[in-house]
Amino acid sequence: MDAKEAIKTMSELVFAKEGRWLEEPEKIVLEAAWLDLDYKEIAERGSYSFEFLQRRVAPQLWVLLTGIIGDGEKVTKKRLRRILEKQMPDLRSGISDELSSNLAMIGGHLPNVSKFYGRKPEMAMLKELVTQERCVALIGQPGIGKSALIAKLIEVMRVASIEFEGFIWKSVSYSPLLSELLADLLKLLADSENQKLDLPKSNQDRALMFFKQLELRRYLVVLDSTEALLQGDRNTDSSPYGDKYADYEGFFRSIIEKQHQSCVVLTSREPFADITRLQHKGQPARSIKIEGLVGKEALLILKTQGLTDEDEWGDLVEIYRGNPLSLEMVAQRIKNFFGGSVKQFLKYKTTLITDIFQDNLERMFKGNGRLTDLEKEILTYLSGELTTLPVDSISFNQLLNHLRQKPNEYVITTTEIIEALESLDERSLIERKVSAGKEIFLTLQPQVRKYISIYTSKGYRDGFKNPKSA
Ligand SMILES: Nc1ncnc2c1ncn2[C@@H]1O[C@H](COP(=O)(O)OP(=O)(O)O)[C@@H](O)[C@H]1O
Ligand SMILES: [Mg+2]
Repeated sequence: MDAKEAIKTMSELVFAKEGRWLEEPEKIVLEAAWLDLDYKEIAERGSYSFEFLQRRVAPQLWVLLTGIIGDGEKVTKKRLRRILEKQMPDLRSGISDELSSNLAMIGGHLPNVSKFYGRKPEMAMLKELVTQERCVALIGQPGIGKSALIAKLIEVMRVASIEFEGFIWKSVSYSPLLSELLADLLKLLADSENQKLDLPKSNQDRALMFFKQLELRRYLVVLDSTEALLQGDRNTDSSPYGDKYADYEGFFRSIIEKQHQSCVVLTSREPFADITRLQHKGQPARSIKIEGLVGKEALLILKTQGLTDEDEWGDLVEIYRGNPLSLEMVAQRIKNFFGGSVKQFLKYKTTLITDIFQDNLERMFKGNGRLTDLEKEILTYLSGELTTLPVDSISFNQLLNHLRQKPNEYVITTTEIIEALESLDERSLIERKVSAGKEIFLTLQPQVRKYISIYTSKGYRDGFKNPKSA
């Protein structure tokens, strides 16, 4: 075994125990120990100082490894090699064959996650959820990092998964009907095993065949961009999926209720009320909302973009709510139009809207009724007030008064208003905060506010009646 192999093995062992891989400085310390080099010698070759490696990294690493390979003996720099070599036969058999192989990626390519910051708590939670639940929904606004998060987890698990036997990545952004999606999935599975597929005709038989696969093997299946399956008009339709897609409801329910050992992960900009309902009934399903990056990690996104005025970067992160895609786009434009100066850009007090944010809001607002009329009215009112008044939030009471005073055809109940606010919150379209006096205040993130104010000023053309003119 050479140093590289030894480090890889230890990294796998640490991962199996701790759910994290060895960091670069830890690997350097291990290399020094394996090759019996001085920390000084090895520090000279890399970017970490000798003191950092010796005082900070090494002691903690020895404690960690003592717990994993020590078998009663304390692991030190001097002893590491002997202990590891002595234990190796046992250790190797402890790591299953899959652990050292690169598990098959079935279907599409993972998004590129070579630059990936933070998200440690989310990764740890998600890792646990995918092994416990049969369905996990990752909900969040466009560009917030849902796909990146699950892709990163798969990347990690693929190298050393004892949990899964295969990973399937399938984008459903093209809105396939259930029969098409099942055909695609079955084809992917058959191809992965070099088998010819005898595709059943009926939806029901296709679904049965698919569930059989989830039962036989432990797969992690990602259905990416599942908001594309939610086609119903929420003002009128009883199914959130709409007529043509209504059978997805039964499909997702079966994923959760049928006995199998796999996990299906959905990423979506909109929540799946039916899945959340099953979760509340104690079924093995979980829906989690993904929020923006915070602190240092959000700043790292800007750092790789070559901007100036570092003092002001925090303001950018705040305006774009730590949304990695929005931050990347804004940074690009600041570079192109403001010579990279964040200060210059902020002076203009303008909010840029990313294409994908705009597309999403358009889908919500126009035509097909992904927002109810009441939800649109709430957004329009908030946007109007926040734009004209010198305040940064509107109290819940003020909103209630406004909605009650409006000459509506029917009386809107408080419950309906609360449900509308919850739904907007789940879609990351409003933000709530509680004042010191426990009063609820509502606000809109700048991109949403900007979109709505532009949209409502042009909205008449598209047949949307501005409630303010009513
Ligand atoms: N934690 C992260 N660190 C660095 N970049 C990220 C991170 N999360 C997302 N990104 C980047 O932001 C962009 C949008 O992420 P993506 O996962 O596609 O968002 P979503 O699926 O929520 O729409 C991508 O370019 C992605 O690489
Ligand atoms: Mg995505």
